[in-house]
Amino acid sequence: MAITFNEQTKTFYLDGKDMTYAFRITESGYLAHLWCGCPIGHDDLSYHNARGRISFCATAPGGTVTSANAYYVFHPEISFFGTSDYREPSVQIQTADGDRLCDLLYNSHEILPAKPAINGMPSMRGGETLVVHLKDAYSDFGADLYYTVYDDASVVARRVVFVNGTDRPIKLLRAYSFAFGLPGQEYDVMSLQGSWACERSPEIIPMHHGVVSIDSKRCTSSATLNPFIALMTKGATETTGRVIGVNLIYSSSFVLKVEGSCLGDTVVTGGINDFDFTWNLGVGESFETPEAVIAVSHEGLGGMSRAFHDAYRNHLIPKKRVFESRPIVINNWEATYFKFDTEKLKAIVDAVEGTGIDTLVLDDGWFGKRDNDKSGLGDWVVNEQKLEGGLKAIIDHTHSKGMKFGLWFEPEMISEDSDIFRAHPDYAIGKPGRPRCYSRTQYMMDLTRKDVRDYIVNSVNKVLAENDIDYVKWDYNRNVTDAFSVELEPEKQMEFAHRYVLGVYDLFERIVNANPNVFFEGCSGGGARFDGGVLAYFPQIWTSDDTDAEERTKIQYGTSMVYPLSAMSAHVSAVPNHQTNRITSMATRADIAHLGATGYELDTTEFTDEDREMVKAQVEEYKMLEELILKGDVYRIDSPFNSGFFTQAVVSKDKSSAMLTVYRRLSDPNAERHRVCLAGLDKDKTYHIEGLDITAKGSTLMNVGIVIQYGKRDFWSETYIVTEVK
Ligand code: DGJ
Repeated sequence: MAITFNEQTKTFYLDGKDMTYAFRITESGYLAHLWCGCPIGHDDLSYHNARGRISFCATAPGGTVTSANAYYVFHPEISFFGTSDYREPSVQIQTADGDRLCDLLYNSHEILPAKPAINGMPSMRGGETLVVHLKDAYSDFGADLYYTVYDDASVVARRVVFVNGTDRPIKLLRAYSFAFGLPGQEYDVMSLQGSWACERSPEIIPMHHGVVSIDSKRCTSSATLNPFIALMTKGATETTGRVIGVNLIYSSSFVLKVEGSCLGDTVVTGGINDFDFTWNLGVGESFETPEAVIAVSHEGLGGMSRAFHDAYRNHLIPKKRVFESRPIVINNWEATYFKFDTEKLKAIVDAVEGTGIDTLVLDDGWFGKRDNDKSGLGDWVVNEQKLEGGLKAIIDHTHSKGMKFGLWFEPEMISEDSDIFRAHPDYAIGKPGRPRCYSRTQYMMDLTRKDVRDYIVNSVNKVLAENDIDYVKWDYNRNVTDAFSVELEPEKQMEFAHRYVLGVYDLFERIVNANPNVFFEGCSGGGARFDGGVLAYFPQIWTSDDTDAEERTKIQYGTSMVYPLSAMSAHVSAVPNHQTNRITSMATRADIAHLGATGYELDTTEFTDEDREMVKAQVEEYKMLEELILKGDVYRIDSPFNSGFFTQAVVSKDKSSAMLTVYRRLSDPNAERHRVCLAGLDKDKTYHIEGLDITAKGSTLMNVGIVIQYGKRDFWSETYIVTEVK
């Protein structure tokens, strides 16, 4: 890993693991993108700037038609409105005069020994960081561009700090985190789309002239579109071709854009959604954008995913937890929903004794007046009518069985029917005098307000301080409507979406980080807030409310595009499945759940002895595989989106062991066999596949493959353990 600057050619080379990112300062002082891909030589790449087509181009401000680089045409590292660059700008300001002009030119640069954190927002740790200071040619408005590279992940992290060094206020109308331009337009664009219970389905569309834009206007990253986009060179596949993925470490309204311009090139940009956004930058103030992580692969989508996984495991997810063995939970939600009492919970615990399940998570309904989802949120006080003996009785019982205890909260919410709302209706987001929109019969706390955050921090931390709680599930079951805070001045109301998420991160700091001995799991009505911002605090997130094994093959496949397996919480639940009514075998449910942080979510009091034995064996198997799930490299082999199979290998970093999960959707009387070529092994090592009794070289297993004899039933699966033979 190294960041170098060639004084002669004015080129920056950022060399990370198996990648180079390069850009230069043009003769006119602009930053022009040169390369983002495999490692390249430190050559003079200025020729690369050769323009494609031009169309009604003007000179740079103040330029003459005879000056060098007269036409304002290059692949931008940051782009701004007001010149003849009509491609998507990454910045738009408005000065006190009302003009929206700026012209950001190179001023200086520095290479930092340590990566600075972003004030109030999560970002990646470590790496080597370059800061390029840009300044407006005609004022003291500036932009500092941050770039960080790593020697253990093929990514570059980028962000911008905008600085108002002028003597009058400035409005930021658009303040994206990054931009880069690429020659040509021969790309496909992948995004991860979805909705509740079917999150993160890959969707690939061809680039076209105009803008491909994906966004969220929900003040959260959302299940609708994940803050991720990938550019795939034409013909790139799971295993081949150049892919550049971009993921925002951000949990509020965002936008990511890819533009095929009339100049014949492609511009990629994005960050905070500028829809319903204006930030007031006072004199001397600065504004920090969220971080964008750009992953580079020459091994197709698989290489991109492994780059993101390495980056997030080594530099984003809490260090203390990321590689630590995970709790194996029994969660009571699908077992009881709101209908439980102390005796029922004790029975659920007793029924898993000896199975290896080690944590009870008491889900929604333990607090305030909460027998359904219509009331009680915000009143974080145990409901002793429902839980005789309070939390203490069930916590003590769980601990007495050698198990840990977890508790559900939804700290960002408030029910209209709650003591806290009756006392402080103004705590809820919305404009007095206008009826608010209900969602799941609840409102949202106005987290832009410090007093509201203080109330939440105090009441949640009180429960954690007064009880011996080992684990928290932090849920978030609706999105912002009625975006308005009674405390914000009118000109600051369009800062709401960003201020809201700064409030969320403040809660995470003061509750999650302030309780380092508690294990925190993220959740949002399933996986509707599965993003890097949340993963910076929570080592795992509930992947989806859809717990059906067949559905989960797709949801977990899509999620693995960006996020590591260890980040995906995955439970074995009851059949017929509560979301799909489908019946799959217990073995299949476990095989799929084992491709994430495994747990259970069903009424264990209904277990037969045989069930209990089966769970015990499953937990033992999971423990054996856990090292691979936490640290291994994922190789997606068969996609459940375009085949009747789901096949995935997870290989240890030293390639000495692997697990292979095979799954077939529907039984076929005349095609019981399917050839699977393993992936990610060392071609020269010899491996043994347990259960198939095959011993062969990695090169054989990856090219000739193996033939799986699928069982004669729908939704059949198996997990094979692959070990190096020395
Ligand atoms: C949505 C979550 O995804 C579920 O697992 C459960 O915790 C419910 N909320 C509780 O209301």
